[in-house]
Amino acid sequence: MKKDIAVTVNGREYEARIEPRLLLSDFLRDTLGLTGTHVGCEHGVCGACTVLCDGDSVRSCLTLAVQADGAKILTVEGLGSRDQLDALQSEFRDKHALQCGFCTPGMLMTAIDLLNKYPLASDDEIRQGLSGNLCRCTGYQNIVAAIRAAATLRMGGAT
Ligand code: FES
Ligand code: FES
Repeated sequence: MKKDIAVTVNGREYEARIEPRLLLSDFLRDTLGLTGTHVGCEHGVCGACTVLCDGDSVRSCLTLAVQADGAKILTVEGLGSRDQLDALQSEFRDKHALQCGFCTPGMLMTAIDLLNKYPLASDDEIRQGLSGNLCRCTGYQNIVAAIRAAATLRMGGAT
């Protein structure tokens, strides 16, 4: 039997009647058309599907959409626009922290959660925070550099 849910995604309210088994990743991508959230492994390993749910990073491929009923979801589309990137996105661009970009939405959302909770995170703590996100292209060095730069900007410093 289908379930009614109401969620707020990137500040916009949605109501939907969905199958109870529908994954949050599929709800975001297929029902709402928010394809910025990527799906890689589909079993919780790669981190590409990471979104924020009430401020905490979650694997949307391991979360049922009905579990998000009443929640506030933030996806990569909610960070910045093509014309106005947010600081973390700008640093990813400027520090060459992406190549193919497949992992990037998950990296960004994980980093946002990390910096919100640990604004003074060291490079080692950033690496630990990213340990659940896989990138096949970059070697991670520039991703850490970009997050470090964004953290410095947030604290009012220059990069
Ligand atoms: S697609 Fe969700 S962790 Fe890989
Ligand atoms: S930039 Fe290609 S997987 Fe990370």
